Formats: sequence, structure tokens, C-alpha cells
Amino acid sequence: MLKQHLNALRKANPNVTIGFVPTMGALHEGHGSLIECSIKEQNITICSIFVNPTQFGDIADLANYPKPIAQDIALLIGLSCDILFLPDYEQVYPPDYLQIEFNLSGLDHKIEGASRPGHFQGVCNVLSRFFEIIEPNVSYFGQKDFQQTVVVKKLIELQRRTMGVKVVPIKREPNGLAMSSRNIRLSTQGRKNAAFIFTALTTAKDDFYAGMNLESVLAKAQQFINAQKGASVEYIVAVDTKTLSKVTKATNEIVILTVVIYEDIRLLDNIIL
Ligand code: PAJ
Repeated sequence: MLKQHLNALRKANPNVTIGFVPTMGALHEGHGSLIECSIKEQNITICSIFVNPTQFGDIADLANYPKPIAQDIALLIGLSCDILFLPDYEQVYPPDYLQIEFNLSGLDHKIEGASRPGHFQGVCNVLSRFFEIIEPNVSYFGQKDFQQTVVVKKLIELQRRTMGVKVVPIKREPNGLAMSSRNIRLSTQGRKNAAFIFTALTTAKDDFYAGMNLESVLAKAQQFINAQKGASVEYIVAVDTKTLSKVTKATNEIVILTVVIYEDIRLLDNIIL
């Protein structure tokens, strides 16, 4: 249905450009910034909402994923998003669909992939289906999920797609906490306190530019986070922005990636040095 509609649009106007923002719903201003960016840059903007089961390792996490669809639709209308794609399971994965195992050169097994086996293969399967259906000119992803942006670029290279990828900066709450669908599960006080993650990352960046070696930068940040009541670092690493390989010395471009467990919630954040 959507494919036919888009093909008709492209036939009527061969120069029309389509921007695509894939999401799992429970939309917040972070998603909104991607949609705004696409609206500014493309003629038509499509946002998809689909809680993709194949990227969840934990069934409870999937079952608990928030689905405030009426609120999401209101947000999309407020932003003047052109099209909402809200497929059901069979539309994305028809009965004869076989999950593809993409050769992502190991990018899917590192860091977040090591904590969540199969996660990035699930992400690639769903995105590959969406790209087939929509054939966007440019797809928009958040820097918030940094490893996902690297994996997506690899997927596009593998599939030889001409589609562009735009990475949009992390949208933060006023205190610096990266916006996330998971933040609503924090207590009111916890949500205020969780600013310490951004404090740790910005301090790490300052320390790096003041000449501190990377190992000490990371050790200091980890110590700072672990010293916060109820917080523990799951990982904090400095990696090359393209290969995601761990770096110990200054290379071309480095990103610090972290996951912090706070009030039993996994909070992801990162900062590019
Ligand atoms: P979801 O977690 O809903 O995120 C959708 C997009 O919004 C992702 O590109 C994510 O990086 C971006 N995003 C989330 N929080 C953000 C923030 N604070 N600032 C900027 N961008 C932010 O990521 C997924 O869904 C799924 O894996 C998906 C790509 C849809 C495949 O199922």
C-alpha cells in the first residue's frame, strides 16, 4: 500500500525527495529533532513506528516497551510529519520471510552488541525491509545510538544502496540527560540526578583536551559514575568512530560510549571527542 502510494508520488514528480525516520514509538523530542531535520531537508517525510521483536533479546523488555500511540500521532501532527507508517507484524515480516544474517564485519558483536547478542542483526533485518518498501533518499538516525549509525552505514554499503544517512546530534533534557523512551521509568529525583552521566562525559572530553591520557580519562569517568548512589557503569569505552575499535591514543576521531545502570535502567550516552 505505502509502496504503491510512494511510487505514484515519484511517478508524478520524479524529483521528489523522501526522508525516512524509523522509530519504535514512545516519541519524544529526540525523535522529533530527526523528523524536523528531515522536514527541513526533504519534500516528504515518513516516520515509521514499529516495535521490532527481532532486535529484543529479552521478552520482558519487548512486552514492557511503551506504546502510547495516540500521543505519538499527536506529536507527529504537531510537527507536520507527512506520513506515519504503522505496519503490523506480517507487513514487515511476511510468513515466508527468512531472517537474514548480514556480514557486518564484526561491528554487530562489539560493545552494545556484546551486551545484546543478535540485537544489530534484528535492527538490520527490519531496516532492510523498510528500505525496500520506502526506498528513501535519506534516512535519519540519532547520534544517541552511535553504534547503530555505524552498523546502518555498513548495511547500506553491503546492500549497495544509494540512500543517504544523516546522523542527528543527541537531544538532551535541560540538565543534560540524553532523551530516551526509557527515561519515564526513572523516578522524578532519579531523572534529575541522572545528569551525572553527561557531567562525566563532558568532564572526560575536557580532561582529554587538557592532555590526560585516554586510559586515565576513562578510569576517572568510571569512578565518578560509580560513586553516584545507585549507579554503576556497564561499560565505558573510547573507540574509533568508523571502526568502533578500542583506541588508547588520539586517532582521527574518537567517541566515548557508555551504558550506565541507574535505578535498574540501562541508560546509553556518548560524546565525540
Ligand atoms: P528508537 O529507539 O525509537 O529510536 C529511533 C531513532 O531516534 C534512532 O535513530 C535513535 O538514535 C533516535 N533517538 C533516540 N533518542 C534520541 C535523542 N535523545 N536525540 C537524538 N536522537 C535520538 O533506534 C531505534 O528506535 C530502532 O533500533 C530502529 C532504528 C527504529 C529499528 O527498529
